[in-house]
Amino acid sequence: MLTTKKTAADTRWFTHDRFGMFIHWGLYSMAARHEWVRHNEQIPNEVYDGKYFKRFDPDLYDPTAWAKAASAAGMKYFVITTKHHEGFCLWDTKLTDYKSTNTPAKRDLLRPMIDAFRKEGIRVGLYHSLIDWHHPDYVIDPHNGPYREGDRAKLNQGRDQARYAEYLRGQVRELLTVFGDIDILWFDFSYPKEDGSGKGRTDWQSEQLLKMIRELRPDIILNDRIDLPGSWDVKTPEQFQPRAWVTVDGEPVVWEACQTFSGSWGYNRDESSWRSAEQLVHMLIDTVSKGGNLLLNVGPTARGEFDDRALSRLSQVGAWMRRHSRSIYGCTQAPAGCIAPEGSRLTYNAETNRLYIHLLAWPFLPHLHLEGFAGKIEYAQLLNDGSEIRLDKGLEAWMSHDTTAPGLLTVQVPIQKPEVTVPVIELFLKDGAFTG
Ligand code: GLC
Repeated sequence: MLTTKKTAADTRWFTHDRFGMFIHWGLYSMAARHEWVRHNEQIPNEVYDGKYFKRFDPDLYDPTAWAKAASAAGMKYFVITTKHHEGFCLWDTKLTDYKSTNTPAKRDLLRPMIDAFRKEGIRVGLYHSLIDWHHPDYVIDPHNGPYREGDRAKLNQGRDQARYAEYLRGQVRELLTVFGDIDILWFDFSYPKEDGSGKGRTDWQSEQLLKMIRELRPDIILNDRIDLPGSWDVKTPEQFQPRAWVTVDGEPVVWEACQTFSGSWGYNRDESSWRSAEQLVHMLIDTVSKGGNLLLNVGPTARGEFDDRALSRLSQVGAWMRRHSRSIYGCTQAPAGCIAPEGSRLTYNAETNRLYIHLLAWPFLPHLHLEGFAGKIEYAQLLNDGSEIRLDKGLEAWMSHDTTAPGLLTVQVPIQKPEVTVPVIELFLKDGAFTG
């Protein structure tokens, strides 16, 4: 079994739970055309606030419904944008007026969410944007934000990035002290440049930030975006599936892929690139088969709901998880030497010594060839209905004339694919079947 690089936090619960919900919610949900809309369209403060801040009113917001949707999908933790790059805060922070309590919402939106998710047994992660396109001290650079193409020398008069770093620390201190024990802190993001025009550890004062975080919550799981080597517990590949278990300097690490339904993170009304539930289930399986976690994003609407496209996908993923979560929770990459049959992905539970074959494509022959498995399996069944896959019913001698491979075991599977998104065969392995 692969062991991962040792970091400050204890990530055992995290790598056990495997599946979380990301939520991106802010004023950009009203624009409904990407959470970067303020940057993309270079919208100045007066215009953005005049349209959105002044009218943000999620009257249908029901955090319990969100938490139940996450739980029914099989998600065990969630990560919510406390503040995205636009600078708007979802909680009643003492450090700025740019917060939900000062919109027509007139309330702290974060606290009831944290309470509702905890009540469903879901762990709490807080996303916090390092970037801030609204704060008066945040130094404007040429790379991002609504003012990047303006007269920066003029716009930056009186701005003081060190003061911003203090604000950043102050807000993180608030978040880690007023909401009880937070499980994950998810910062976003650094973009250091050789010529100094970007932003990184000196701009955020990352060392001080880290020190404060570890003092307040020694065991919090921290992601990898404050531009400080050695500070993180989790690597976070974004919007793509890694080819194999993620490594850093050749060493496997704890990792979490973050992925969207359709491309945007914030609610995007007109995006038509939505993934199907089947693709999402594949994504989850693929992630765990490479030893990772999946953080799947929902962008709630401005009125405070998950839209139907999100809800239907979550419930379909949940329907699959209800019968198959055993191949996800507590599972990881298969031991070395296990060969995945054609068109499949493997996951493995070391505690129970069970191996899971996810048949992304149903075998078009009634036979499944398990190379290297002869003599290693005690029992096999389909996971969706617990029906036996007979190990003594493989190829008859007259069929098998050209079918040889080391340790080959051929088993019969039903002609018809079970009516589930991805059928899974559960193999009860013999002790020490794959120790090498
Ligand atoms: C980014 C984007 C963003 C999103 C995030 C999630 O880098 O700026 O909008 O919140 O990644 O990983």
